[in-house]
Amino acid sequence: MKIAHFSRWGFLMAAAGAAVGLGNIWKFPYVAGQYGGGAFVLVYLLTVVFVGFSVMIAEMLIGYLGRRDGVGAFEHLAPRHKNKWKYAGFMALFGTLVMFYYSVVIGWIFHYILMSFGTLPASVPEAEAIYDQFIKHDIWEQILFHTMAFLITTTVLVRGIKGGIEKFNLVLMPTLILIIIGMLIYAMNMESFAKAVEYMFVPDWTKLTSEAFAVAVGHAFFTLSLGMGSIMIYSASLPKESNLVRASLFVITTDTLIALAAGLFLFTFLFQYGAQPAKGPGLVFISLPTVFHAMGNVGNVLAVLFFMALAFAGLTSAVSLVEPMVQYLIDRWNMSRFKAAVSMGLFFYFFGIIAILSQIESTSALFSCGGKTFFDWMDYLTSAVLLPFAGLLMAVFVGFIMEKERVASVLKTQMGWFYPIWRFNIRFVAPVALVFVMLNLMGIIEF
Ligand code: PHE
Repeated sequence: MKIAHFSRWGFLMAAAGAAVGLGNIWKFPYVAGQYGGGAFVLVYLLTVVFVGFSVMIAEMLIGYLGRRDGVGAFEHLAPRHKNKWKYAGFMALFGTLVMFYYSVVIGWIFHYILMSFGTLPASVPEAEAIYDQFIKHDIWEQILFHTMAFLITTTVLVRGIKGGIEKFNLVLMPTLILIIIGMLIYAMNMESFAKAVEYMFVPDWTKLTSEAFAVAVGHAFFTLSLGMGSIMIYSASLPKESNLVRASLFVITTDTLIALAAGLFLFTFLFQYGAQPAKGPGLVFISLPTVFHAMGNVGNVLAVLFFMALAFAGLTSAVSLVEPMVQYLIDRWNMSRFKAAVSMGLFFYFFGIIAILSQIESTSALFSCGGKTFFDWMDYLTSAVLLPFAGLLMAVFVGFIMEKERVASVLKTQMGWFYPIWRFNIRFVAPVALVFVMLNLMGIIEF
């Protein structure tokens, strides 16, 4: 198997880079806003601690012991029915469909970085008009920026684990963290900071519908990059003597702190300048630019930094979304890394263009069905079906199928007293939570 090894920091930064993405800075604040703030955040946090952490260790374990592409790892570790379990690996590979729209959003962010150097929109209607014009009409501009995202991602992937992914993350992640900390400190000095804290941490239980609950659990998985083979494929390159428990702890802590920090400073800015929090997906593209405008010149600087941080978060995740497929092609189809990375890059590039067209007014009908555009379908399919399902298979695989001794041999000493709790989590809590998410988001159960 042609698997390279990360350095210790290289792995931590790459795994954190996979986890910290558009989900943290773009999605988290707006879904928290949509579903009522505090109560949503609490469910999300509880899921991260009680389920996400355990599943992350499980996914790392499959990669670490498998030491190969996702499909091969399941085959290699299944004590019997190898032929059936390899489909769990395929399920995880399908999660990369997230990339069909992810790279398009990174393209939008590039556009907003450029915009931040000039005049930002002064009012929400104006900001909305700019956003709509861009998303619904500017095909070529969107394709241009999407092409940039594709080129950067593919270049990193072509260079491989050490020379590409590790180096990329070692530069981008610390920069991103610094920007986020800087923004948070800036926001902490504003009057509205207390209001943002209250908004995010004081729960209003009446807003916690079953849908909000499922979205919170689903989001916890999405933001931690679980169930898509990304964490698994990076873990296949873990140095031999790694502590999976500590690594998982590092990744979930970094991911959660960044999401909370982003939420806090975003809401502080919004409240301080009287903008509404519940703006949906347009939150950072519509409400936020008007706030930056109101801040004057400082606003432009903050806007550039903010969108750069967002782009960094997106790019490091994008790389991790494609790598499972790249490694699959290398291992299974004997492709060179160059060929595998370029063909996968082009594959996602093509479907990204379809995602763009599905939002453009004149072509939208062609690429929509059942009231959803192709873009929305990919988002829905991955977060409501593929990701929880693949996550469920991973939990069941590690909890019930893999030889107990093999799992214990790695994890027992690393975990100590936590081991039985982890085992219970992975066998019962995680599967129940994941089945609930799937059934609810598919509209099968509600309360
Ligand atoms: N965790 C990333 C985010 O929050 C998205 C992602 C999911 C990346 C799955 C890789 C794999 O944006």
